[in-house]
Amino acid sequence: MTNIGILGAGRVGTHLARALASAGHHVTLGRRENGDVAGTPPRDGTGIHYADQRSAARTASVVINATPGNSSLARLTALRTELAGKILIDVSNATEDDADGLPGDLCYPGGSLAEQLQEALPGTSVVKTLNTMLFTVMTDPGSLGGITTARATEAMVLVVPHVLRRSGPAPFAVSLTR
Ligand SMILES: NC(=O)c1ccc[n+]([C@@H]2O[C@H](COP(=O)([O-])OP(=O)(O)OC[C@H]3O[C@@H](n4cnc5c(N)ncnc54)[C@H](OP(=O)(O)O)[C@@H]3O)[C@@H](O)[C@H]2O)c1
Repeated sequence: MTNIGILGAGRVGTHLARALASAGHHVTLGRRENGDVAGTPPRDGTGIHYADQRSAARTASVVINATPGNSSLARLTALRTELAGKILIDVSNATEDDADGLPGDLCYPGGSLAEQLQEALPGTSVVKTLNTMLFTVMTDPGSLGGITTARATEAMVLVVPHVLRRSGPAPFAVSLTR
């Protein structure tokens, strides 16, 4: 069992909290509006504890950042003491939204939020993952398909010689967009 704190109680944070709690972990969901929680934070029927974001970071050994990425750097830098010595799993995307609410531009072109976080939090181990998929897939990777998906991923090897001939033996990965 791991003590996990999740910052941000939106779609991603809530979804990950439910899955991690039902897998037996001690999960504290850090909300903005909870104020200072004295004593034992309240729980709901799912076994999730609730606290303000500072308390959620302080009491955890692993912290997940599921807050809007365009303001994560300032927010998490303010939690430097609470995050020291911890693993920080950053699943956020740092983008500025267009008028329709969808990502329009990167906040850190030529760099990344995770690099900024690592620089600002030298005592914390920052891990970037899960930000490339819809939140439902984060806890249910099987929803992408069964063993027959191997036909497609194994066939990807046919791309490799073309990349190597053109670019040489530089590391690369194949990703799917739609
Ligand atoms: N949705 C997806 O499928 C998906 C997939 C991959 C990555 N992501 C990334 O994951 C992160 C969360 O996405 P989401 O879809 O869960 O967003 P969301 O539903 O809007 O939730 C974000 C939560 O962060 C908290 N928050 C918002 N503004 C804040 C502020 N200024 N200070 C502190 N907390 C604040 C709010 O929770 P409280 O008000 O309860 O504190 C809010 O519910 C984003 O960075 C997003 O790019 C999302």
